[in-house]
Amino acid sequence: MTTGHVFIATSLDGYIARKDHSIDWLENQGTLSEEHGYTQFIDSVDRIIFGRKTYEVVLNLTADTEWPYPKPVIVLSSTLTNSDIPPHLTDKVTITNQTPHALFETLDQKGWNRVYIDGGITIQSFLNKGLIEDLIITTLPVLIGEGIPLFGNTPKDIHLQLIKTTQYPSGLAQSHYRVIKEDS
Ligand SMILES: NC(=O)c1ccc[n+]([C@@H]2O[C@H](COP(=O)([O-])OP(=O)(O)OC[C@H]3O[C@@H](n4cnc5c(N)ncnc54)[C@H](OP(=O)(O)O)[C@@H]3O)[C@@H](O)[C@H]2O)c1
Repeated sequence: MTTGHVFIATSLDGYIARKDHSIDWLENQGTLSEEHGYTQFIDSVDRIIFGRKTYEVVLNLTADTEWPYPKPVIVLSSTLTNSDIPPHLTDKVTITNQTPHALFETLDQKGWNRVYIDGGITIQSFLNKGLIEDLIITTLPVLIGEGIPLFGNTPKDIHLQLIKTTQYPSGLAQSHYRVIKEDS
């Protein structure tokens, strides 16, 4: 059964980017250069699902550098198609407008079990459909006042179990939550 997993950094006030999508507050803090489990996490997943907006930011940031993702990336979008993928990424990225459930069925049939879900709207959409198993949220000690939130409206309460919280010397606080399934 394919399961969704989140590994994301937020400001202390709960934002994943500024409104203009800039993540200077992530880069300038120097905190994320400290090893905080990303390598182990990315090694543990079979595929990465990005929302279209996250993909576009990554595309911009990596225009002059190597594509940083070691696992195939699937981009969810109703406005882009595979023909929009730049030639150097056609073997690394695919674009789909499948619904989250349909996409997970496709991935399941291919035996891809653990999927990294990234992007605020995208995480919310998978979370609300019960497709996220756990979230590792790394909080930076900075308030940015406004921005793109990690979480948004939920049609009903979502309960989580805190598995552990780790404090890093640079000031990062990382919490690992498991989503409590309704039938458990
Ligand atoms: N702090 C961090 O660690 C971190 C991590 C990741 C991203 N970010 C930041 O987050 C920002 C982007 O997040 P976001 O919340 O604005 O957007 P997002 O989730 O990255 O992308 C949203 C878009 O994804 C597509 N999409 C999502 N779910 C879909 C579904 N179920 N079916 C079809 N399409 C779907 C839609 O694209 P269409 O409009 O094309 O249909 C939607 O507009 C960026 O600035 C990025 O840098 C930060």
